[in-house]
Amino acid sequence: MVNRSPEIDVSVFADRTAFDEAVQRARHAATAYYDTGDAVMTDADYDALADRIAASIAARPEWDDQGVTTAVAAGASAGGDVRHPTAMLSLDKIKTPEEVAAFVATLGGDACLVEVKLDGLAIRAEYVDGRLVLAALRGDGTTGEDVTAQVRRGVAGLPSELATPWTGEVRGEVYMTVEDFEAASANRVAAGGKAFVNSRGAVAGAIRSIDRAYAAPMTFATYEIVGDGVDASGTHLARMDRAEELGFPAACRLIPEVAGECFTAEQVTAAIDLIGARRSTLVFPIDGAVIKADAEATRRRLGLASRTPYWAVAFKYPPDTASTVLRDIEVRVGRTGRISLRAVIDPVHVSGTTVTKATLHNPQWVAEQGLAIGQTVAVWRAGDVIPRVTSPIGEQPHGLTPWVAPEVCPQCGEPWDKSSLLWRCHTASCAAANALAYWCSREALDVDGAGDSFCDAVIEAGLARNVADLYALTVDDIAELPVGKTTAGGTVMLGRSNAERIIAGLEASKQQPFNRVVTGLGIRMTGRSVGRWLAARFKSMTALRAATVEEIAEIDKMGLIKAQHVVDGLVAMSDVIDRLAGYGLTMEVVDDGGAKPLAGQTYVVSGSVPGYTRTTVSERIEALGGSASSSVSAKTTALVTAETTTAKAKKAAQLGIPVIAPEEFAHMLS
Ligand code: IVH
Repeated sequence: MVNRSPEIDVSVFADRTAFDEAVQRARHAATAYYDTGDAVMTDADYDALADRIAASIAARPEWDDQGVTTAVAAGASAGGDVRHPTAMLSLDKIKTPEEVAAFVATLGGDACLVEVKLDGLAIRAEYVDGRLVLAALRGDGTTGEDVTAQVRRGVAGLPSELATPWTGEVRGEVYMTVEDFEAASANRVAAGGKAFVNSRGAVAGAIRSIDRAYAAPMTFATYEIVGDGVDASGTHLARMDRAEELGFPAACRLIPEVAGECFTAEQVTAAIDLIGARRSTLVFPIDGAVIKADAEATRRRLGLASRTPYWAVAFKYPPDTASTVLRDIEVRVGRTGRISLRAVIDPVHVSGTTVTKATLHNPQWVAEQGLAIGQTVAVWRAGDVIPRVTSPIGEQPHGLTPWVAPEVCPQCGEPWDKSSLLWRCHTASCAAANALAYWCSREALDVDGAGDSFCDAVIEAGLARNVADLYALTVDDIAELPVGKTTAGGTVMLGRSNAERIIAGLEASKQQPFNRVVTGLGIRMTGRSVGRWLAARFKSMTALRAATVEEIAEIDKMGLIKAQHVVDGLVAMSDVIDRLAGYGLTMEVVDDGGAKPLAGQTYVVSGSVPGYTRTTVSERIEALGGSASSSVSAKTTALVTAETTTAKAKKAAQLGIPVIAPEEFAHMLS
C-alpha cells in the first residue's frame, strides 16, 4: 500500500499579517533552497507552509494582491538571464492512494509511466551539430541562470560533445549520487568551505560557482527531448530510446523494474511502492515518483495548466527528514574505539517511526555548525538506517552556547587521540569493551546473530568484559537483554530464539581456524591479513606468544611497529587467551593432512572469486600450502583478476606474470 503521510495542518491563516509573514518565510526558504543550497527548513515543513499559503489564497483571493504568492506556493526560485523557449513546468503533488486513482482515471485507460523523481535541479541543454551550446537552470520556469561553463567542466550524462552531430534540446535533472555528494562535501571542507547539507543543496551550490576550488561530481538524467530524429508526436518511451542512443541516461530507466507501461491504479501503486521500498538503497537521491502519460496524444488531450501539466503528477513519499529540537548530545565510544555522538531530540515522526535519538557526524562537524543544545535541527532517516542529524535548521536562537565535546573519553577518562576526525580512545579497558563486536564480526570469528546491539547490551548489562566471557554465557543469561526500542518507546528484548542462535554461533566459532582467533583478538594495527600471516608463520598460540618482536617483524611487510603491537597485545590479553584456550577455541593451525599443491607459490587476488570472500579465499590458498599477497611483484606466481586495465594487471603484464580468471581459480582451489 502507498504510505499515507501523517496529518498535516493545511488551515487558512487567521489574518493578513500572519499570511504576509508566512509568504516572507516561504520566499526566504525557497531562495535559500534553490540559490544557495542552504536549509532554512525541511522540505516537508516547506511543503506544509506552501499548502497553507495556497489554501489561504483559495479562501481569501484578495490577499494575493501582488500575484506572486502562487509562485511561492509552487516553490519558485528567482529567474535568470536565459529565456526558455517553452516554460519549464513544475508538477502538482499528490500523496494518497485516492489521489493516485483519481489521476489514473483522467487517463481514460491510456498508458502511463511511473519513474523516479530525482532530487536535484531542473536543467535544459541545447546542442547544435553535437556540441553543447547552452545549459540553463529552470529558474522561475520562464527564465533561468546560464550554467553552460559549469556544465562544460563536466556533468556525467551531459557531454560537451556528442558522438553524433545532433541538434536539439534535452531537459532533465542534474543531481549528485550519494557517493558524489559525500565527496563534494568533503572536498569543499578541504578547500576551507562548509559541508553541504544535502545533495540537492550541493548541486545548487556547486553548479552556480564558476571558479569553485573543490571538485563536485554531478550526473544528469533526462525526461524530455526534442530535436533531430525525435518523434514529438510519439510516445515518451520512444523518445527516451532516442535520448539513450545519443548518450543521455533516461530518468524512466534508472530503476529498470518499473520502466514499463501501467494502465491501472493498482499497477501504478505497485510501481510507487517498489520505488519507495528501494528508496533508502538507491545511489541517487529521490523525493518522489512521477506518474506521466506515455503517449503524446494523451498528453495533448489532457493539456496544461499555467505552471503544471494535467498529464503528469508527482507522488511525494512521506518525508524522510523532519525538524526537531536538540536536547542533549551523548558521547560514547564505538566498537573500534572511535567516538560516537548521539543526539537526544524531542520525539519526531519521520519515515513512519517516532525518533528520539539520532547520530551526529563528528565533533568537528558539530563545532563547525555551531550546534547548541536547544537548537532546531533536521533529522534524516532513510529506510531502516539509523536516524542522523544532518543540519541545524533556520536561525540560531540567541543566547545558546555552542556545544563543546568533552576532552576525555567518558568511558575511561583518558584524553582522545585526535589525529583523525573521528577521535579515538585507545585505553585497554575501552578496547576490551569494544573488542566483543569485532570478535563476533564476519572478519573474525563470524558469530551468527551477535551484532553490535547484542554486544553493546552484553557490556551494558555487565555480563561480559572481554571476549572470553562470551563463552560462559547461557541462553537464559541473554534472552532478556534489551537490544532496542519499539516505536512506542518500549523495550525490545533479544528473545529466546535469537539467544539460542547466538549461543549456537559461539559454539560453532570454536571450529574457526587459528588465524581467525588471532585476528579476533583485535590487536591494534592488525587485521585479518596480519592474523593469517602470524598463524602461517608461528602455527600455534604457544609459538606465537614465545616469539620476539624481531622474529615477528621478519614477516614480509610486518615491520617493527606492528610487531611491537602484536607482542604488547598478546601480553595484555594473556588471561583472555588462556581462558579462550580453556573454552576450546582453536589455538593452532590444524593441518587437514591434505595435499599442498600450492606449496611455494604466491597468489595475488584482485576482485572477487566466486564462492569465496576475501578472507576465505586467502585461507583456502594457505590451506593448500600457498601464500596470498596483496601486491604484484617478481615473486608472484599469478594474478587472479577479471580486469585488464587495473594497475595490478598492468604490472603483471610488465613482469610477465600470468593472469588467471576468477572462475578458473575457483575451480583450481576446489
Ligand atoms: S517530468 C512537465 N520527470 O521535478 C514537467 N520531472 O516539480 C516535466 N523532476 O523541476 C517534469 N525527476 O526537474 C519529470 N522523472 C522526472 C523528474 C522530474 C525530477 C523534477 C523536475 C521539475 C520538478 C517538477
